[in-house]
Formats: sequence, structure tokens, C-alpha cells
Amino acid sequence: MNRRPDTVAAFIAIAEKLFQSEKLPEGGRRVAARVFERLQTPSDDGVRHHTRYPACEWLDATLAPFIDDDSAFGAAARAIKSLEPDLGWSRRSSGVNGSDDYIDAHVHGMICGPGGAESRYDVQLGFSLMLPHTRYPDHSHPPEEAYVLFTPGEFRQDGGEWIDPGIGGGIHNVRNNLHAMRSGSVPFLAVWSLLTKDGD
Ligand SMILES: [Fe+2]
Repeated sequence: MNRRPDTVAAFIAIAEKLFQSEKLPEGGRRVAARVFERLQTPSDDGVRHHTRYPACEWLDATLAPFIDDDSAFGAAARAIKSLEPDLGWSRRSSGVNGSDDYIDAHVHGMICGPGGAESRYDVQLGFSLMLPHTRYPDHSHPPEEAYVLFTPGEFRQDGGEWIDPGIGGGIHNVRNNLHAMRSGSVPFLAVWSLLTKDGD
């Protein structure tokens, strides 16, 4: 398919800018640049993962602190909200060191990627939402990845110290490195982009 809904295009345009922030590690900016290069070409096989999970009900509360802001975060929040009916939802139920309730306390929203608003397999662009006081399990995956943090929250890589990159900051995960994230007293939202097929 060669057409892309305005809602998806709007989110991609905002996210592309956020992933080029100087607050991101250089490697994160680099992998994201390759993701957005691929996203210049729309591609959608129409698969949709519409099943919702308990944490989906926290979307409004998570976006509320910045949805009216005259900033890229506000614009991104409004784009996410407008995409809500089209998002592909999923959650993780494996991995170690997750908080007791983490399965119901988190959800992933896929915007571009398998089952998402634009279902494709060469990249993933989406977000993770966690309720307050949630620790996501240690996990790893072959695709290289960058995150941008939209709210207070922390990340950990390769069993190191927990780090708070600050809102608008992020992390870069090289292939297969172990990583985790956790929220504090407020809901957590981070947007990620992954390069899921190597080559070019
Ligand atoms: Fe990850």
C-alpha cells in the first residue's frame, strides 16, 4: 500500500525529531535515523492486533501531564491518542526480575510494526506504558533499538546502575544487550524504534 493515514504520518514526523535529540546517545540517533529512512516508504499488510489489556486504560492518565503542551511531546501525545483505535497492543510475560504485577501493569503500543497501525516487518516504532512502581523484566532481542523517555523513569543495561536519562533523553541498545526499565511514582511512557531486518 502506498498511502498512509495522516495520523500515522503525523506521529512519524514528530518521533523522527525526538529521536534526533542531542540528549540521546549517538548510537541511538544513528539506529533511529535508519528506522526513519525505511519509514519514508509506507508499507502495511493490514494485520491488526487490537486486543486490549488492562494497562491500556492508563493511556489517558499517562499522556495527561503533557498532552496539552505546546511541545513535541504534546504533539506526540495527541498523535498517540488519535491513533489509539489503530494501535497494535501486546505485552511481555517472560523474563526475570519483573515486579510481581508487571504483566497487567504494562502494555506496548505498536504504531509501525507487526500488527500495528501500519503493520510491517522491517522496523518497529511504538511505545511502552507502565503503571507507577512497575519494574519491567530484564530482556534482550536481536534488533538494535533506541528509546526516548517521555516521562520520569529509569533504564538499566547489562546489569549496570539504573540511569535516568531525563525526559527527552534515551538509551541505545546494541544487538542482544540485556535491558530493563522501571517507573517511579507516576506512569511511565517511552517510545522506541527498532531496526528489525538487517541489510542496507
Ligand atoms: Fe527492548
